[in-house]
Amino acid sequence: MTPSDVKATLSFSDGSPSIDLPLYKGSIGPDVIDIRKLYGQTGKFTYDPGFLSTASCNSTITYIDGDKGELLYRGYPIEQLAEQCDFLEVCHLLIYGDLPDAEHRAKFVKTITNHTMVNEQMQFFLRGFRRDAHPMAVMTGLVGALSAFYHDSTDVQNPRHREIAAHRLIAKMPTLVAMAYKYGIGQPYIYPKNSLSYSANFMRMMFATPCEEYEPNDVLVRAIDRIFILHADHEQNASTSTVRLCGSSGTNPFAAIAAGVACLWGPAHGGANEAALSMLEDIQRNGGVEKIGEFIKQVKDKNSTVKLMGFGHRVYKNYDPRAKLMRETCHEVLGALGLGNDPLFKLAMALEKIALEDEYFVARKLYPNVDFYSGIVQRAIGIPVSLFTAIFALARTVGWIAQLNEMIGDPEYKIGRPRQLYAGSARRDVKALAQR
Ligand code: SDX
Repeated sequence: MTPSDVKATLSFSDGSPSIDLPLYKGSIGPDVIDIRKLYGQTGKFTYDPGFLSTASCNSTITYIDGDKGELLYRGYPIEQLAEQCDFLEVCHLLIYGDLPDAEHRAKFVKTITNHTMVNEQMQFFLRGFRRDAHPMAVMTGLVGALSAFYHDSTDVQNPRHREIAAHRLIAKMPTLVAMAYKYGIGQPYIYPKNSLSYSANFMRMMFATPCEEYEPNDVLVRAIDRIFILHADHEQNASTSTVRLCGSSGTNPFAAIAAGVACLWGPAHGGANEAALSMLEDIQRNGGVEKIGEFIKQVKDKNSTVKLMGFGHRVYKNYDPRAKLMRETCHEVLGALGLGNDPLFKLAMALEKIALEDEYFVARKLYPNVDFYSGIVQRAIGIPVSLFTAIFALARTVGWIAQLNEMIGDPEYKIGRPRQLYAGSARRDVKALAQR
């Protein structure tokens, strides 16, 4: 980061001495005001619950321009990556900082392929869950359990150990997600098959059975691979910030990623794709397109908690570029499957059109986000609604681990420890029970 010639001067109307704070420039995007010395110099904290105006770190991985609707992974536009690359190339980009040439690509694919199996003990963790446990509850447990296998062999301060942990997590997440799915439907687990690509292997572990050969459908494999690319990283979102804060204590990277899985589950975050599809199915059940007006009225009613799931974003105040790509993928997949007239997709497009013309959404700059269409694509691929967020976690694991490794590799990093504005009781003495 580059020191700016401009200083920020903070002055107080109560005559307290003003202070100058340095500004830093990034390569693109907003400058930052360095407040690290503010408390030491003024005895005051800044106050920013939800971190709307706070940069938590200095990162080189992902850049988002919310007004333009732009998303770059290591400088490459998401549209070009989704069109020209596959997910493992994007993983290499996020972890190592650039797209691999043919030789490095082959080496990386071989490394990941050779880490796809999980310890045979992992299946016994699953048996502790009810068959109808939510897959995200299972995934939170399984990813955390990975730390039990590698706790003694992972020194987070060792860059090579961090690299191996990254390989293991990228490689094993598809196996774990497929195991969580198979466990829920009572089918046997399917082992990884090294002759298949990353995404074809995932589809086979999900949908094959021991009873017959499974031929991956190239259109569906390409679609799931693109879903992985679109979800791979997204700057300092809630789950990535969780992973960074958790990892800042020096904990095992598998435990830090498990914390990210738990955070992503929330309906305001990664759980929105499951909630968006359920919302569309509810509208469909209650009358479909004709009933959209009534639903929008509920959303706008301050007394209702109804939200248009898959719409709105803390950063994007324009169309989420991933949603555009996801809508295209919808067209491709539904067309290839002969589902071009899928009523839910038509309902989603009608809902989007109405919302984008409605003053309530326009005034609040609420546009479709990545979660609005992803559920429709995943449902068409055959993925059950309850597994949508686990798929999101599978894809986001590479982003989480890249961000975690960037933080730990930064010599300036410290354990994250925010302060507070205290509004509770001043000091008071305990009274004996009889006096309370
Ligand atoms: C993801 O951060 C990331 O990058 C996340 C993510 C990633 O890749 O990691 O992009 C993935 O989480 C995408 C977002 C998925 N969530 C949803 O689709 C859930 C629905 N969206 C909302 O919950 C909401 O839009 C958030 C949580 C996404 C953003 O909320 P903010 O930035 O805190 O905005 P806000 O809640 O303060 O809303 C501002 C106004 C409010 O109205 P007023 O109080 O001004 O009258 O907009 C309204 C909100 O009520 N609003 C919505 C709405 N989202 C915001 N009204 C109806 N439907 C919505 N979806």
